[in-house]
Amino acid sequence: MNPLPLVVVMGISGVGKSAIGHELADRFDIEYADGDDFHPESNIAKMSAGTPLTDEDRWPWLADIGGWLNEHDASGGVISCSALRRVYRDVLVDAAPRTYFLHLTGDHDLIKSRMEHREHFMPASLLTSQEQTLEPLQDDENGWAFDITPSPAEIVDEFVARAGLTR
Ligand SMILES: Nc1ncnc2c1ncn2[C@@H]1O[C@H](COP(=O)(O)OP(=O)(O)OP(=O)(O)O)[C@@H](O)[C@H]1O
Ligand SMILES: [Mg+2]
Repeated sequence: MNPLPLVVVMGISGVGKSAIGHELADRFDIEYADGDDFHPESNIAKMSAGTPLTDEDRWPWLADIGGWLNEHDASGGVISCSALRRVYRDVLVDAAPRTYFLHLTGDHDLIKSRMEHREHFMPASLLTSQEQTLEPLQDDENGWAFDITPSPAEIVDEFVARAGLTR
């Protein structure tokens, strides 16, 4: 087994994907990419205006993220991507079968307060639609959910232990 993990850090907006993704990539000294950077300008404009994306908006974006994962199969890598629905995650796994999912979950009010204290295009008002779209990981998926109360370093420790990785 390749000791360098290939990971999608997933979950709704503001849950900590970028923060934990950076921490995890640094831990293994592998590349980090932000799924937000793969959105076309039209998707960013929509989300900035508080309009949820449709599946049609998401398919090309997911295909690009799958491409990134596939290209990083040998080197390992960490990418943040909301990956809210099972069908979205299946696109990613089809592109890169060894992908792990690190799903961040947390209390609505905690996420909202963290979002209100940062600079980002995603308005806190989109939180509810993201929560409604979310389909948690199923038993046959390669990943686990982690609560966001602990620090990013502690969450990464939990993931590393759970995945049986050494670092
Ligand atoms: N475990 C944590 N403990 C304390 N603060 C955290 C934790 N995780 C994230 N944060 C803070 O919460 C805010 C939101 O986190 P972050 O931007 O990483 O979320 P995100 O899931 O990447 O959001 P988006 O989907 O909108 O890109 C940031 O200010 C971040 O520093
Ligand atoms: Mg982010």
